Amino acid sequence: MTRHFLRDDDLSAEEQALVLQRALELKAAPYSRRPLEGPRTVSVVFDKPTLRTQVSFAGAISALGGLPLVVDGNLAQIGTRESIADVARVLGPQSAAVVWRTHGQDRIEEMARYTGVPVVNALTDDFHPCQILADLLTVTEHKGRTAGLTLAYVGDGANNMAHSYLLGCALAGMHVRVGTPAAHQPQPAVLARAQEIAAAQGGSVQVTDDPQAAVAGADVVVTDTWVSMGREQEKGARQGAASPFVPFAVTEELMAGAAVDAIFLHCLPAYRGTEVEAAVIDGPQSVVWDEAENRLHAQKALLSFLLEGPA
Ligand code: NVA
Repeated sequence: MTRHFLRDDDLSAEEQALVLQRALELKAAPYSRRPLEGPRTVSVVFDKPTLRTQVSFAGAISALGGLPLVVDGNLAQIGTRESIADVARVLGPQSAAVVWRTHGQDRIEEMARYTGVPVVNALTDDFHPCQILADLLTVTEHKGRTAGLTLAYVGDGANNMAHSYLLGCALAGMHVRVGTPAAHQPQPAVLARAQEIAAAQGGSVQVTDDPQAAVAGADVVVTDTWVSMGREQEKGARQGAASPFVPFAVTEELMAGAAVDAIFLHCLPAYRGTEVEAAVIDGPQSVVWDEAENRLHAQKALLSFLLEGPA
């Protein structure tokens, strides 16, 4: 059966732990697995801007013995010039896997129905599951574990990062808190699914409109841009002085309410002075550069798992 990674809970808790363990192994021995030897092509398609995702997937695919073929989705015009199903039936037979950054989650689900090879979500409007694998790897390296730790995400509670933290960190047995304005709550279905996972894994999920309560005593504090790709026309309302997100900015003061040894994560790109103060992201608690590098190791492990299985 072809396995895909379209959202965080496409891996079971056991499989997520296996991928994270494999990421640690591959970080120590970068060329120890070669499932793409040939080289076999992996198509990496971008309908939205990218930096970290393009570089880290190219590096991961190369190190696994393969050829990363970066495709400009805007040139291909997937879904307008030709249907997603037809694109999938062209890419599938010529690719060992397809990695796609696109808009609606329905688009990547349709791609996965027709490729016949693993499809990996490299960010959609709803989820960014590869980033969460990198974040969990970073937490594991800095804290020695994930289960039982509290992660506080403050900012836009309705975006892809919020949804993926809810699902992915619940799978990892964490206590997940989302601090967000009442009008920017996560999708109810995602929240319900995260609660179900947390109950099974010994963690918990909480959403609050009080940023101090979200961060209180947390082991990991994270945020994300208030203006996700595709929402550029809302920039004034979301980043201006009257933005509902202003109380959720990660300032030194907010960070002081977390555990004394808390770490700070941000998927990047970051806007200093908006969602995070420079003193925090450039300060001693920030591990964002480890986090960015860990995209490489986590995605290498994920591709290896999807192509080679658990062994
Ligand atoms: N929420 C952000 C994540 C960027 C990696 C966006 O979708 O633009």
